[in-house]
Amino acid sequence: MSANMQNLESYWMPFTANRAFKKNPRLFASADGMYYQTTEGKKILDGCAGLWCVNAGHGQKKINDALKFQIDQMTYSPAFQGGHLGAFEFAERLADMFPGNLNHVFFTNSGSEAADTSLKLARAYYKARGNPEKVKLIGRDKGYHGVNFGGLSVGGIPAARKVFGPFLPEVDHLPHTHNVDGNLFAKGQPENGANLADRLLEIIELHGAETIAAVIVEPMAGSAGVVVPPKGYLERLRKITKDNDILLIFDEVITAFGRTGDVSTASLLNIQPDMINTAKGLTNGAVPMGAVLISDEIQSTIVDGPPDVIELFHGYTYSGHPLACAAGIATMDVYAEQKLFERAASLTPYFEKAVHSLKRHDNVRDIRNFGMVAAIDLIPREGAPAARAFDAYLKAFEQGVLIRTTGDIIALSPPLIIDESEIETIIDTLDDILATI
Ligand SMILES: Cc1ncc(COP(=O)(O)O)c(C=O)c1O
Repeated sequence: MSANMQNLESYWMPFTANRAFKKNPRLFASADGMYYQTTEGKKILDGCAGLWCVNAGHGQKKINDALKFQIDQMTYSPAFQGGHLGAFEFAERLADMFPGNLNHVFFTNSGSEAADTSLKLARAYYKARGNPEKVKLIGRDKGYHGVNFGGLSVGGIPAARKVFGPFLPEVDHLPHTHNVDGNLFAKGQPENGANLADRLLEIIELHGAETIAAVIVEPMAGSAGVVVPPKGYLERLRKITKDNDILLIFDEVITAFGRTGDVSTASLLNIQPDMINTAKGLTNGAVPMGAVLISDEIQSTIVDGPPDVIELFHGYTYSGHPLACAAGIATMDVYAEQKLFERAASLTPYFEKAVHSLKRHDNVRDIRNFGMVAAIDLIPREGAPAARAFDAYLKAFEQGVLIRTTGDIIALSPPLIIDESEIETIIDTLDDILATI
């Protein structure tokens, strides 16, 4: 259906300039492999995996077939006091993939719900363990953990919080690691800034470790514009949290499932958090789903007491939805069979070199990359923040490439099936555009 046959007014689009969009809509009709097709029949090369989620590319037959099969079997089974085998199978599969003792999986429907679930679990754990005063939740400036009240409370993106407060009171924030001196145009993890993890020691001194339940960070902050962790920073956060009996939650909604070259950034860097939040690539974006991976210690402490009593009053009608589990299991098969995490790791040097070639433009102030993610950070136009990057977005779309922008930062996170010539197409398109904006 074409845009002019359709009334676009009723749908209030999320995180969108609704009025501008509806004057000049960009509507996708189908997708296959690396490409979308618009309602006007235009092919668009996907430079951001939809919204950081279609890691295996579009139209993967195995995922589609699994969904078709599951639709004919059963599209819903009750999530409370009932189950279906797909949810157990998918949970076991994930537990096997994620590092160390993260052997338990709580299913949600989104990354936002995964964030709030993990924060609630941190408090429930310490209550069950006999430390009810450990309630404080520590996030980070520039952090993004979705749009629900828990995630927003620990989040640190001012525009996302501005009109929704007040938030949870028992919260504090670490400083972000962006714009640290000496890190401009870093390739991969930057050299400087590991010491910023030590700010956690000041927060602990201020509040007392006995009041803090958890620290939650994205290993790489995506939504804030690709803030790559300095070398040693996450390791240091792990040591300080461990030394002080504080849980560490990695929000890997963007970074899991191959984006940084392994199943998770925790696995890549050999760090063992107490929980990992996932969503997006969990089902290749085919069905909404999130999952929290939880350590043995947290799960067994909460799941204690009389066996016929509900241990945790938490969950969603659609936790472990049959269609989501079918899509998720097939997605894990596709990642393994097509070796997409390995592919991401081996493509990274080529992608890195290509992206950093854009440094030559005067309006580029920084370029960062980590695995198959990159940011091209533009100098804002005077008096018009975000305008230059959005111009680039519109021009790229016109020229058949989908990018993502946040503020004056262009973010690239293509499906991991991308090849070298498609990387070149994205970079050549941006090269042209950067010369004109
Ligand atoms: C790190 C992180 N956490 C949570 C979320 C929220 O996920 P959702 O939009 O599925 O609620 C996002 C979304 O981009 C994210 O990047």
